[in-house]
Amino acid sequence: MKRHEREPLLAVARADGPWLVGTDGRRYLDAISSWWVNLFGHGHPALKAAIAAQLDTLDHVMLAGLTHEPVVRLSERLGALTGLGHAFYASDGASATEIALKMSAHAWRNAGRAGKCEFVGLVGGYHGETVGALSVTDIALFREAYAPLVRLSAALPTPADP
Ligand SMILES: Cc1ncc(COP(=O)(O)O)c(C=O)c1O
Repeated sequence: MKRHEREPLLAVARADGPWLVGTDGRRYLDAISSWWVNLFGHGHPALKAAIAAQLDTLDHVMLAGLTHEPVVRLSERLGALTGLGHAFYASDGASATEIALKMSAHAWRNAGRAGKCEFVGLVGGYHGETVGALSVTDIALFREAYAPLVRLSAALPTPADP
């Protein structure tokens, strides 16, 4: 809960294409792109139209016992790309990591090897900040304070860090 090293914070009023526009009226090139979600720029017309159309039709429904046409279409495309035939959705990167850890342990359990539940991560790797994801994340800043909660995995060197 430390204060951010960049104070005062940059107050963003809006965004457009590659630009963030501050409350000070200045434009800032958004080289972050919010990392995961703005690869095509802010307010991309096709994405906005698709989001608005989906909101008008169905904003959200959980997938436990329910389904809908867009998720079927996406799952079929992902299934064709991966050859897996199934899709399982997570709400964010850390949740996806949790699910991957659980799924792999579960697959071994189903195969009769319930004890096979050790994981390896990469030196310096980052997989999110939930407790399970921290077990394969090798960044002390994120992990140290929660050491008693985290079930540590082995960290393997990467070619960049032999
Ligand atoms: C490889 C990797 N895994 C997991 C995450 C965590 O994603 P999220 O912040 O959506 O939980 C990140 C985020 O940068 C990531 O780069």
